[in-house]
Amino acid sequence: MAAETGREVPCHVAIIMDGNGRWAKARGLERLEGHMQGVESIRRAVKGALTRGVRYLTLYAFSTENWGRPRTEVSGLMDIFCRCAVNETPELKRQGVRLRFIGDVARMSGEVREGVAYCERETAENDRLTVLVALNYSARWEITQAVRTIAGEVREGKLLPEEIASETVSSHLTTVGVPDPDLLIRTSGEYRISNFLLWQSAYAEFYFTDICWPDFDEAEFDRALAAYAGRNRRFGRV
Ligand code: IPE
Ligand code: IPE
Ligand code: MG
Repeated sequence: MAAETGREVPCHVAIIMDGNGRWAKARGLERLEGHMQGVESIRRAVKGALTRGVRYLTLYAFSTENWGRPRTEVSGLMDIFCRCAVNETPELKRQGVRLRFIGDVARMSGEVREGVAYCERETAENDRLTVLVALNYSARWEITQAVRTIAGEVREGKLLPEEIASETVSSHLTTVGVPDPDLLIRTSGEYRISNFLLWQSAYAEFYFTDICWPDFDEAEFDRALAAYAGRNRRFGRV
Protein backbone atom coordinates (compact mmCIF):
# COMPACT_ATOMS: atom_id res chain seq x y z
CA MET A 1 0.00 0.00 0.00
CA ALA A 2 1.40 3.41 1.02
CA ALA A 3 -0.93 4.46 -1.78
CA GLU A 4 -0.39 7.74 -3.56
CA THR A 5 3.36 7.57 -3.16
CA GLY A 6 3.77 5.14 -6.02
CA ARG A 7 6.27 3.10 -4.02
CA GLU A 8 6.28 0.95 -0.96
CA VAL A 9 9.65 2.17 0.25
CA PRO A 10 9.52 5.74 1.54
CA CYS A 11 11.67 8.12 -0.46
CA HIS A 12 12.43 10.25 2.60
CA VAL A 13 12.66 8.93 6.18
CA ALA A 14 13.16 11.37 9.05
CA ILE A 15 14.12 10.21 12.53
CA ILE A 16 13.89 11.85 15.94
CA MET A 17 16.67 9.85 17.58
CA ASP A 18 15.53 9.95 21.19
CA GLY A 19 16.28 8.06 24.40
CA ASN A 20 20.08 7.98 24.57
CA GLY A 21 20.09 9.33 28.13
CA ARG A 22 17.49 6.90 29.44
CA TRP A 23 19.23 4.00 27.70
CA ALA A 24 22.44 4.90 29.54
CA LYS A 25 20.75 5.51 32.89
CA ALA A 26 19.03 2.11 32.76
CA ARG A 27 22.48 0.55 32.50
CA GLY A 28 24.13 2.66 35.19
CA LEU A 29 26.14 4.57 32.58
CA GLU A 30 26.73 8.27 31.94
CA ARG A 31 24.36 9.95 29.47
CA LEU A 32 27.26 10.55 27.11
CA GLU A 33 27.80 6.81 26.80
CA GLY A 34 24.25 6.64 25.48
CA HIS A 35 25.09 9.29 22.90
CA MET A 36 28.20 7.38 21.86
CA GLN A 37 26.20 4.19 21.50
CA GLY A 38 23.71 6.21 19.45
CA VAL A 39 26.39 6.70 16.81
CA GLU A 40 26.30 2.93 16.21
CA SER A 41 22.57 3.18 15.57
CA ILE A 42 23.20 5.97 13.07
CA ARG A 43 25.58 3.69 11.17
CA ARG A 44 22.92 0.96 11.13
CA ALA A 45 20.21 3.40 10.00
CA VAL A 46 22.38 4.67 7.14
CA LYS A 47 23.13 1.10 6.07
CA GLY A 48 19.43 0.25 6.33
CA ALA A 49 18.46 3.24 4.21
CA LEU A 50 21.11 2.41 1.61
CA THR A 51 20.17 -1.24 1.22
CA ARG A 52 16.43 -0.61 1.14
CA GLY A 53 16.45 2.17 -1.43
CA VAL A 54 15.57 5.15 0.76
CA ARG A 55 16.87 8.28 -0.99
CA TYR A 56 16.79 10.83 1.86
CA LEU A 57 17.40 10.23 5.55
CA THR A 58 17.04 13.14 7.95
CA LEU A 59 18.45 12.70 11.45
CA TYR A 60 17.60 15.04 14.34
CA ALA A 61 20.97 15.26 16.09
CA PHE A 62 20.76 18.45 18.17
CA SER A 63 17.88 20.85 18.66
CA THR A 64 18.20 24.54 19.41
CA GLU A 65 16.52 23.73 22.73
CA ASN A 66 19.25 21.19 23.56
CA TRP A 67 21.60 24.09 24.44
CA GLY A 68 19.66 24.16 27.72
CA ARG A 69 21.28 20.88 28.86
CA PRO A 70 24.15 20.73 31.36
CA ARG A 71 27.34 22.18 29.93
CA THR A 72 29.26 18.91 30.14
CA GLU A 73 26.61 17.08 28.12
CA VAL A 74 26.53 19.79 25.45
CA SER A 75 30.31 19.88 25.11
CA GLY A 76 30.43 16.07 25.04
CA LEU A 77 27.89 16.06 22.20
CA MET A 78 29.93 18.66 20.31
CA ASP A 79 33.03 16.46 20.68
CA ILE A 80 31.09 13.50 19.29
CA PHE A 81 29.93 15.56 16.27
CA CYS A 82 33.48 16.70 15.53
CA ARG A 83 34.90 13.21 15.91
CA CYS A 84 32.19 11.69 13.71
CA ALA A 85 32.77 14.26 10.99
CA VAL A 86 36.39 13.18 10.73
CA ASN A 87 35.95 9.44 11.31
CA GLU A 88 32.75 8.65 9.43
CA THR A 89 33.08 10.79 6.32
CA PRO A 90 35.50 8.58 4.33
CA GLU A 91 33.27 5.50 4.68
CA LEU A 92 30.11 7.50 3.91
CA LYS A 93 31.84 8.90 0.84
CA ARG A 94 32.72 5.38 -0.27
CA GLN A 95 29.12 4.24 0.22
CA GLY A 96 27.78 6.98 -2.07
CA VAL A 97 26.25 9.04 0.72
CA ARG A 98 25.94 12.78 0.46
CA LEU A 99 25.87 14.70 3.74
CA ARG A 100 23.94 17.89 4.15
CA PHE A 101 23.42 19.83 7.35
CA ILE A 102 20.25 21.68 8.19
CA GLY A 103 20.07 24.00 11.17
CA ASP A 104 21.68 27.15 12.43
CA VAL A 105 25.21 25.84 11.95
CA ALA A 106 26.59 29.39 11.64
CA ARG A 107 26.07 29.82 15.37
CA MET A 108 28.14 26.80 16.31
CA SER A 109 31.80 26.66 17.26
CA GLY A 110 34.53 27.01 14.64
CA GLU A 111 35.48 23.37 15.08
CA VAL A 112 31.94 22.14 14.45
CA ARG A 113 31.59 24.46 11.44
CA GLU A 114 34.83 23.11 10.00
CA GLY A 115 33.62 19.53 10.50
CA VAL A 116 30.34 20.34 8.76
CA ALA A 117 32.10 22.01 5.82
CA TYR A 118 34.47 19.03 5.50
CA CYS A 119 31.60 16.46 5.43
CA GLU A 120 29.63 18.46 2.88
CA ARG A 121 32.61 19.15 0.65
CA GLU A 122 33.91 15.57 0.66
CA THR A 123 30.54 14.00 -0.17
CA ALA A 124 29.12 16.66 -2.49
CA GLU A 125 29.38 14.48 -5.61
CA ASN A 126 27.39 11.56 -4.15
CA ASP A 127 23.73 10.94 -4.87
CA ARG A 128 22.86 7.40 -3.81
CA LEU A 129 21.51 8.53 -0.44
CA THR A 130 21.39 12.04 1.02
CA VAL A 131 21.69 12.19 4.79
CA LEU A 132 20.46 15.47 6.22
CA VAL A 133 21.75 16.10 9.72
CA ALA A 134 19.60 18.49 11.73
CA LEU A 135 22.17 20.23 13.90
CA ASN A 136 21.19 23.21 16.03
CA TYR A 137 17.87 22.83 14.28
CA SER A 138 14.46 24.15 15.23
CA ALA A 139 11.51 24.23 12.83
CA ARG A 140 10.28 27.54 14.21
CA TRP A 141 13.74 29.05 13.68
CA GLU A 142 13.72 27.73 10.12
CA ILE A 143 10.24 29.06 9.31
CA THR A 144 11.04 32.40 10.95
CA GLN A 145 14.17 32.91 8.87
CA ALA A 146 12.23 31.96 5.72
CA VAL A 147 9.56 34.56 6.54
CA ARG A 148 12.27 37.15 7.15
CA THR A 149 13.94 36.46 3.79
CA ILE A 150 10.63 36.51 1.90
CA ALA A 151 9.65 39.79 3.59
CA GLY A 152 12.97 41.26 2.45
CA GLU A 153 12.29 40.18 -1.13
CA VAL A 154 8.87 41.84 -0.99
CA ARG A 155 10.40 45.02 0.36
CA GLU A 156 12.94 45.05 -2.46
CA GLY A 157 10.13 44.68 -4.99
CA LYS A 158 11.29 41.25 -6.18
CA LEU A 159 8.07 39.61 -5.11
CA LEU A 160 4.45 40.68 -4.63
CA PRO A 161 2.66 39.49 -1.47
CA GLU A 162 0.01 37.76 -3.62
CA GLU A 163 2.76 35.83 -5.40
CA ILE A 164 3.79 34.10 -2.16
CA ALA A 165 2.75 30.47 -2.54
CA SER A 166 3.33 27.33 -0.52
CA GLU A 167 6.27 26.58 -2.85
CA THR A 168 7.76 29.99 -2.04
CA VAL A 169 7.90 29.04 1.62
CA SER A 170 9.27 25.54 0.88
CA SER A 171 12.02 26.96 -1.28
CA HIS A 172 13.21 29.20 1.57
CA LEU A 173 13.54 26.37 4.07
CA THR A 174 16.80 24.55 4.79
CA THR A 175 15.38 21.45 3.05
CA VAL A 176 15.05 23.22 -0.31
CA GLY A 177 15.09 20.68 -3.13
CA VAL A 178 14.37 17.73 -0.83
CA PRO A 179 10.97 16.01 -1.05
CA ASP A 180 8.90 16.13 2.15
CA PRO A 181 9.41 13.22 4.57
CA ASP A 182 7.14 10.26 3.85
CA LEU A 183 7.86 8.52 7.14
CA LEU A 184 8.78 10.13 10.46
CA ILE A 185 10.11 7.83 13.18
CA ARG A 186 10.51 8.73 16.86
CA THR A 187 12.12 6.35 19.30
CA SER A 188 11.93 6.04 23.10
CA GLY A 189 8.16 6.10 23.55
CA GLU A 190 7.70 9.87 23.29
CA TYR A 191 4.80 11.07 21.18
CA ARG A 192 5.75 14.59 20.18
CA ILE A 193 7.48 16.42 17.37
CA SER A 194 9.81 18.62 19.47
CA ASN A 195 10.15 21.42 16.92
CA PHE A 196 11.24 19.12 14.07
CA LEU A 197 10.27 19.62 10.39
CA LEU A 198 6.91 21.23 11.23
CA TRP A 199 6.24 22.48 7.71
CA GLN A 200 7.68 19.48 5.86
CA SER A 201 5.83 16.84 7.91
CA ALA A 202 2.37 18.07 6.91
CA TYR A 203 1.55 14.67 5.37
CA ALA A 204 4.23 12.43 6.85
CA GLU A 205 3.26 9.05 8.25
CA PHE A 206 4.33 8.71 11.89
CA TYR A 207 5.91 5.65 13.47
CA PHE A 208 6.58 5.53 17.19
CA THR A 209 8.54 2.85 19.00
CA ASP A 210 9.38 2.35 22.67
CA ILE A 211 12.91 1.26 21.74
CA CYS A 212 15.55 3.80 22.78
CA TRP A 213 17.78 5.08 20.01
CA PRO A 214 20.93 3.10 21.00
CA ASP A 215 18.90 -0.13 20.55
CA PHE A 216 17.51 0.87 17.14
CA ASP A 217 18.66 -1.77 14.67
CA GLU A 218 17.88 -2.93 11.15
CA ALA A 219 15.03 -5.14 12.37
CA GLU A 220 13.36 -2.10 13.93
CA PHE A 221 13.98 -0.11 10.77
CA ASP A 222 12.25 -2.87 8.82
CA ARG A 223 9.30 -2.80 11.23
CA ALA A 224 8.92 0.91 10.58
CA LEU A 225 9.12 0.38 6.82
CA ALA A 226 6.58 -2.44 7.01
CA ALA A 227 4.20 -0.22 9.00
CA TYR A 228 4.62 2.48 6.38
CA ALA A 229 3.98 0.06 3.51
CA GLY A 230 0.68 -0.89 5.15
CA ARG A 231 -0.58 2.67 5.45
CA ASN A 232 -3.13 4.21 3.15
CA ARG A 233 -2.05 7.76 2.45
CA ARG A 234 -5.06 9.79 1.48
CA PHE A 235 -3.78 13.36 1.42
CA GLY A 236 -7.27 14.63 2.21
CA ARG A 237 -8.97 12.63 -0.47
CA VAL A 238 -11.17 9.53 -0.10
C1 IPE B 1 18.49 12.05 22.14
O1 IPE B 1 18.56 11.40 23.38
C2 IPE B 1 19.77 12.74 21.77
C3 IPE B 1 19.72 14.21 21.85
C4 IPE B 1 18.67 14.92 22.12
C5 IPE B 1 20.95 14.92 21.58
P1 IPE B 1 18.31 12.18 24.73
O2 IPE B 1 19.61 12.75 25.20
O3 IPE B 1 17.21 13.16 24.58
O4 IPE B 1 17.89 11.01 25.69
P2 IPE B 1 16.72 11.06 26.77
O5 IPE B 1 15.47 11.47 26.04
O6 IPE B 1 17.12 12.03 27.82
O7 IPE B 1 16.64 9.66 27.28
C1 IPE C 1 14.51 15.91 20.36
O1 IPE C 1 14.77 15.20 21.52
C2 IPE C 1 15.78 16.45 19.79
C3 IPE C 1 16.71 15.45 19.26
C4 IPE C 1 16.46 14.17 19.13
C5 IPE C 1 17.98 15.96 18.83
P1 IPE C 1 14.66 15.87 22.96
O2 IPE C 1 14.96 14.82 23.94
O3 IPE C 1 15.49 17.09 23.01
O4 IPE C 1 13.13 16.29 22.99
P2 IPE C 1 12.17 16.57 24.24
O5 IPE C 1 12.88 17.53 25.13
O6 IPE C 1 11.95 15.26 24.91
O7 IPE C 1 10.92 17.10 23.62
MG1 MG D 1 15.21 13.04 24.78
